[in-house]
Amino acid sequence: MSDTVLTAPAGVNIPEFRQVGKPLPRTDAPGKTFGRTVYAGDIVMPNMLYAKVLRSTAASLTIKKVDASRARALPGVHAVLTAWDLPDRLVQTDIPGQTGQRSLNAAQPILVKDHVRFSGEALALVAAESLAIAEAALLLIDVESEPFPGVYDPFEAMKPEAPVVFGENNVIKTYKIRKGDAAKGFAEADLIVENTFHTQVQEQAFLEPEAGIAWVDENDVINIRVSTQVVEHFRAVADALGVPHNRVQVKSMFVGGGFGGKENITVELYLALLARATRRPVRLVFTREESFVAHGKRHPFTIRHRTGVKRDGTIVAAEADLTSDAGAYATLSPYILLYATIAAMGPYRVADLKFDSRTVATNNQPNDAFRGFGTMQACVAHEQQMDEIAKALKLDPIELRRRNFIRRGEKNSTGQTIESEVWSSRCVEAAWEALGPRASNRGSVRVGRGVACYQQSYGRISWFRDTCEAWVGIELDGTVIVRTAVTDIGAGQSSAVAQIAGEVLGVPLKEIVTYFGDTALNPLAGTSTASRALFMTGNAVKLAATAVRENLLGRAAKHFGLPVESLDIANSTVFVVNDPARTLPLPELAKMCATEGIHRNNLAIYRAPTSTGLDPETGQGRVFADFTYGAHAAEVEVDVETGEITVLKSVGAHDVGQAINRAAVEGQIEGSALMGQGFALSEEMKFREGRTLTTSLSEYLIPTAEDAPEIKAIVFESRSGFGPFGAKGIGEPAYAPVAASIANAVADAIGVRIHDLPITSEKVVRALRRAKTA
Ligand code: MOS
Repeated sequence: MSDTVLTAPAGVNIPEFRQVGKPLPRTDAPGKTFGRTVYAGDIVMPNMLYAKVLRSTAASLTIKKVDASRARALPGVHAVLTAWDLPDRLVQTDIPGQTGQRSLNAAQPILVKDHVRFSGEALALVAAESLAIAEAALLLIDVESEPFPGVYDPFEAMKPEAPVVFGENNVIKTYKIRKGDAAKGFAEADLIVENTFHTQVQEQAFLEPEAGIAWVDENDVINIRVSTQVVEHFRAVADALGVPHNRVQVKSMFVGGGFGGKENITVELYLALLARATRRPVRLVFTREESFVAHGKRHPFTIRHRTGVKRDGTIVAAEADLTSDAGAYATLSPYILLYATIAAMGPYRVADLKFDSRTVATNNQPNDAFRGFGTMQACVAHEQQMDEIAKALKLDPIELRRRNFIRRGEKNSTGQTIESEVWSSRCVEAAWEALGPRASNRGSVRVGRGVACYQQSYGRISWFRDTCEAWVGIELDGTVIVRTAVTDIGAGQSSAVAQIAGEVLGVPLKEIVTYFGDTALNPLAGTSTASRALFMTGNAVKLAATAVRENLLGRAAKHFGLPVESLDIANSTVFVVNDPARTLPLPELAKMCATEGIHRNNLAIYRAPTSTGLDPETGQGRVFADFTYGAHAAEVEVDVETGEITVLKSVGAHDVGQAINRAAVEGQIEGSALMGQGFALSEEMKFREGRTLTTSLSEYLIPTAEDAPEIKAIVFESRSGFGPFGAKGIGEPAYAPVAASIANAVADAIGVRIHDLPITSEKVVRALRRAKTA
């Protein structure tokens, strides 16, 4: 399905890797292929109880009473918990930095006591002998409530007369970025282009809904096995229960998709409460319908751009105004807004700019993390704006971009110097070229093409002082163990870090096992979010493996009577580089080390670059470690009579710094092509007064194999990233430009811009009708 183009950076001497960069079969692949992988919802324990959650179906209510007495009396019910049964505690739903500091007011009631703020909010928990009994118990819980005025639109919510959902005026957080003199820049512009773009609510639609199981063990430790991106929530769970942090153990199982939707707490807190209340193992698996209302989704954004350009296409001034709907609780909305605000300029240079943004509370379902974390919505806006500028100037859209791409060493919108390579030009050119010969118009079918470029960070916000720990050791038989609490969310995290350890230690991938995702038994790695897992955990594993290699080779040097530099390791054998017949098998060397008390393992910590934060008045400062750059190109055909859109070709070209597992990188690019196509054309969560109308995958339309176009993945390797071997993050970056490229292709095909995503057939037909009458 994919093409791979490898390009050596000029002047860089490329070492040959034995494993890194190769498309090796992932260590997690056989289990998944043959159905042997145990997911959190598959676990069965003796005496296990089944849990269910009672949720509000209305979005805004005053609660008078929750009476669980009838439910508790039902035979087979072991616990019914309401807000009145809990210590009066909230749960913190954001992810603190590595020192535990929080900068958000993201507290949420565990169960509602007084006021329902969104449809789907939890009112009570049940644990029973069977799922059927638990479901029956839900119906026996009597809730007395009164309607309370709600607000369902962020612009309405900002009006003085609006009901208050959060704080004093519903505005959860604002940002401003000021650089140069925007007024002066606009005065010097030959042309000013202004557009407003809107993006919709998107559902992560992972294959595996939220699931977990918990029990209290003989040490009074609450054990939780869960499908999560973030095992570090063990602290928030402990705080919410009022137990010490070391009495909660969270292990993440292999995750059947996260995409940000398992970045927040899901089932783990409910499970901990019920396991403590019943002293029995308790399992909770959300149904698809429940999953749809239980986790935060992609924030809808309204983004206005006003851009001043010279006749030759040079951008001289930029203004942007961004508003997002946070829904009923803050969750991670402020951080997502920060990402979107910074990304509003895209990968382009501008001296004079003025950006303002706000995230606003409503009685909609909370919106939260979703692959791209605000950058993707920003990309949809800035890349459509770039095409509109190109159209107004009668310039080629790629040429316009080329004239404005930021370069390595220059400063971005917040004044952060770009330290790695910016290969945007070669990425967009390669993606465009890979589209090949253009399909032709026929009958009522019009063909169009579009591109989009981006600047997406990888790694967490740098004032969180992000760190990651990993342990690597070699056994007496020469096999290697990696221990790190990274979560494996389906992108091949556990396999990639094994490959890195194998590269450093000269041990084949099949000889390595990664024990991951366990807060009690593994060194903590931080979250699998923010495209940081490979960057952070990869670096930590590389450091640990390098230390083990040094110890091993130190002993081997004594054995051969040669300096360490003359030795190398491959295929689990140490050999003399200039005399490869002289060898020492790793098991023998490991035993020598063990006999002499030489460490065969190492615990390493990787520390990301840090900063002190942004200037609150100008929004200037370092926010991230680094950025990934790349492009997506698409060819579509649109039937102007029916409005039907078909994506014919979809090409992603990205500088990933260094691919660790090339097949996994291509998988990220290919998956992004489809997920972005869904966002561009068909996916939209719809609500009426806060209630979900799209409650299942039969109304919420993700692309299927039948909708898949010809997809190509082009991988560039500048080896300039901050990750291991110069890698950059790719999980979110690959996704950032896809929808924008398709929107631009549709506009190219029909000659009319549709400013609201998704671009449905109805919108196409209406836009063409309007254009005709105008
Ligand atoms: Mo996330 S959107 O998994 O940082």
